[in-house]
Amino acid sequence: MSAAALSVHDLTVNFGALVAVNSISFDAAPGRITSVIGPNGAGKSSLFNLISGAIRPTAGMVRLEGVDVTGRPPFRMLAAGLARSFQITNLFFELSVIENLRLAAQILEPPLRSLLPVARSPRALRRADELLESFGLSGKAHELAGSLSHGEQRRLEIAVALAGYPRVLLLDEPTQGMSHGDTAETAEMIRRLAGEMTVLLIEHDIGLVMTLSDHVVVMHQGRKLAEGTPAAVRADPAVQAAYFGHA
Ligand SMILES: Nc1ncnc2c1ncn2[C@@H]1O[C@H](COP(=O)(O)OP(=O)(O)O)[C@@H](O)[C@H]1O
Ligand SMILES: [Mg+2]
Repeated sequence: MSAAALSVHDLTVNFGALVAVNSISFDAAPGRITSVIGPNGAGKSSLFNLISGAIRPTAGMVRLEGVDVTGRPPFRMLAAGLARSFQITNLFFELSVIENLRLAAQILEPPLRSLLPVARSPRALRRADELLESFGLSGKAHELAGSLSHGEQRRLEIAVALAGYPRVLLLDEPTQGMSHGDTAETAEMIRRLAGEMTVLLIEHDIGLVMTLSDHVVVMHQGRKLAEGTPAAVRADPAVQAAYFGHA
């Protein structure tokens, strides 16, 4: 048994002839930020889809806190303590901010309670209020999620992922399309979250990766090209050639 919060072993998925994720192995240490980087199409989002149960692997294993959870559907991964946010937003635009949070918080209620109207689930109501507060969204609670700014939507999406108190959080390009100010704020938030849980981060802003990450996994064409500390990865000639495009 390993002390990793999350570990993947030889994780693989084929889409027809394409091996999008090709025998990837790494460990994510508890309470740390592990980043996955690589060029577009490297297989990063597919890797998160495999880990979170959105797609089933062709081969390999996912262990959450030592337990084999390979192939479990997303709902069961959530129940086991792993949540994710999406590269493309996953909010209900036609519902209000607080309704998005309440629904997310209610999903993990015991089965009969989750059939009750949300307004009758005090725990979900409380969690939604907490998240509104800590994400600075209280003033927008009753606005439609679809009417928020892009930065606020990305922030709400992270709040939604946290509704069920995950111990492992997967964030797929949380700063994509954000302004400079929103990006800095989100980076600070991710740093704070890592004190409380294990974070796996896909991020294309290399400066952010270098300052935020404890550990970096580099993917290229489905394979793991390198892993290590941000400094070690950045200095790796193979990474420089494939990813930074220069030596
Ligand atoms: N569901 C799918 N079906 C077929 N091909 C896919 C699917 N998802 C991703 N791909 C392909 O797998 C490769 C890796 O994609 P992706 O994991 O999204 O990469 P990244 O997130 O690193 O940009 C790409 O060539 C993409 O077109
Ligand atoms: Mg992606």
